[in-house]
Amino acid sequence: MTRLPYDPEHTAAFYDRFGERERARWEKDARARFEYRVYRHHVEQRVKAGDHVLDAGCGPGTFARVVRDRGARVTCLDLSPEQLRACRAAVPDAEAWTLGSITDLGAFEADGFDVALALGGPLSYCLDRAADAVAELKRVTRPGGWVGLSVMSLWGTVHRHLEGILALPMEVNLDVFRTGDLPRTVNDGHECHLYRVDELRGLLQDGGLRHLEFHASGWLLPRGDMGLPADGTPEWQMLFDQELRASAASPGAGTHIIAWGVA
Ligand SMILES: C[S@@+](CC[C@H](N)C(=O)[O-])C[C@H]1O[C@@H](n2cnc3c(N)ncnc32)[C@H](O)[C@@H]1O
Repeated sequence: MTRLPYDPEHTAAFYDRFGERERARWEKDARARFEYRVYRHHVEQRVKAGDHVLDAGCGPGTFARVVRDRGARVTCLDLSPEQLRACRAAVPDAEAWTLGSITDLGAFEADGFDVALALGGPLSYCLDRAADAVAELKRVTRPGGWVGLSVMSLWGTVHRHLEGILALPMEVNLDVFRTGDLPRTVNDGHECHLYRVDELRGLLQDGGLRHLEFHASGWLLPRGDMGLPADGTPEWQMLFDQELRASAASPGAGTHIIAWGVA
């Protein structure tokens, strides 16, 4: 459980500064592009044409575009004015672009969405208000609809960034391992909570979500610069299928844990 207080101004300023890098991170290398496909697969499996979807913590609209391309309607929400501006430019046919926090979705009525998404870690920034965010995502989703979210994974992040982590003072690392809290002093202001799978399961169960599923955001590819089979080939598909299986078997192994639950 986190010990850090939610600070929306800090997170909004961080993502305003982060700017264009948030969109570009999915294209950074072969592994990032592959992990984008894992997320896209998850969204495409749950969102149907005609659905009305909330994309909360939409960033520059990366998954709002996927939702729209499914023939669904999408309403976008973010804490960062800069990210919301980029989303508006990328998804000009969204229903709305709302500045706000997933800890208070009072702008939206109860049961109004078929699917609510909070992908790429918004819940990790809610810190000691994460339970409020889960309650709000559930409240705005119709009974039987899906809530899909991803949070930063403690062990998957340690695995991915081990060299940088070992370069930090031991007391800092021991505290991060113990609490899951990454304070703003460590990584250029990127303050967030890194979850263990059991901790996330408890949070979502307590929030009343049912039929929970957990997946890693991808973890088989050891490096970003490795060559992959060409997209669309049987070899690519084989790798992708195994990635989905591995990610379901070891949901904490990627940098993010993707979770689905029924409202
Ligand atoms: C890593 S980005 C993810 C963007 C996009 N969903 C994706 O997966 O590519 C996280 C986004 O969540 C937003 N965010 C963080 N905390 C939030 C909160 N409490 N409410 C709404 N948005 C939040 C940030 O401003 C940022 O745009």
